Amino acid sequence: MVHPFTHNAGERLHANAHDEWASVPGLFRSANEPLPACWSAIFGPLRAGRPDAPFAVGQIGQSLDGRIATATGHSHYVNGPHGLEHLHRLRAVMDAVVVGIGTALADDPQLTVRRVEGPSPARVVIDPQGRLPGSARLLAADGVRRIIVTRRTTATDWPADIEKITLTGNGDGIAPSDILAALGSAGFRRILIEGGANTVSRFLAAGCLDRLHIVVAPVLIGSGPSGVTLPPIAWMDEAIRPAVAMHPLGDEMLFDCDFSAQRKAWGRVNTSA
Ligand SMILES: NC(=O)c1ccc[n+]([C@@H]2O[C@H](COP(=O)([O-])OP(=O)(O)OC[C@H]3O[C@@H](n4cnc5c(N)ncnc54)[C@H](OP(=O)(O)O)[C@@H]3O)[C@@H](O)[C@H]2O)c1
Repeated sequence: MVHPFTHNAGERLHANAHDEWASVPGLFRSANEPLPACWSAIFGPLRAGRPDAPFAVGQIGQSLDGRIATATGHSHYVNGPHGLEHLHRLRAVMDAVVVGIGTALADDPQLTVRRVEGPSPARVVIDPQGRLPGSARLLAADGVRRIIVTRRTTATDWPADIEKITLTGNGDGIAPSDILAALGSAGFRRILIEGGANTVSRFLAAGCLDRLHIVVAPVLIGSGPSGVTLPPIAWMDEAIRPAVAMHPLGDEMLFDCDFSAQRKAWGRVNTSA
């Protein structure tokens, strides 16, 4: 297996990997074209499935002790440049990127591809109560679709060109499978559930992730919010043990967790949308 990063000089990209990345977003979307060897181990598994079969990958960047921020909520940045570049590469091969309203309010993210070459995906925020201000940066008009998934039916100050998906929910919120089905109907096939931990954990608990990329940075935070948080279990034999592939990203480590065997069906992609 050829990794994009050399093992004995963790900070350096494998020779040519950086140059070869430029071709990956295009090749990724053409079913019969192989990816460059140095990128296929990480991104090849994300090409799985039929053209009308939706696919969801979650991502979490965390510390060695499983934290995603300090106790005060400061999180910029847990990951270093290699982890952040990986996140932008994920965005560049996905059709839509999804964040929860907690992340949208805390970070005011742009959710564009800036650190590597590649197209920016559509941006989706899950905002059941309609708390997102119309000035949020992810709503900026830059040519990509911007979508708010909400339960709110009354007026907001969201720009008129924002697509709104209104879904009902229950006491646990909106079913992640309903969100993915609606995004499939809107024409999105490959969907990145970028965060925060609350949102990613909801999708994982609902069996709505094909894969989860956990990028661990060599830092100990010691307290603060955790990454994946699931309903409590009593015994270790109830713990989830996915197949995991590990990929060094400079001095960080990507754990690529495969949940495809346990993920639920959530409909078909509308390929004409
Ligand atoms: N390390 C990383 O990889 C990473 C990535 C992204 C963000 N972050 C950090 O994570 C923090 C924010 O994350 P967070 O976990 O607190 O919040 P979050 O996941 O961004 O947002 C959670 C909120 O989104 C809404 N939501 C999401 N899924 C829903 C569903 N299925 N049904 C109904 N509502 C749903 C709910 O909003 P309501 O409360 O309005 O009901 C929920 O409280 C920030 O500090 C950010 O910097 C870290």
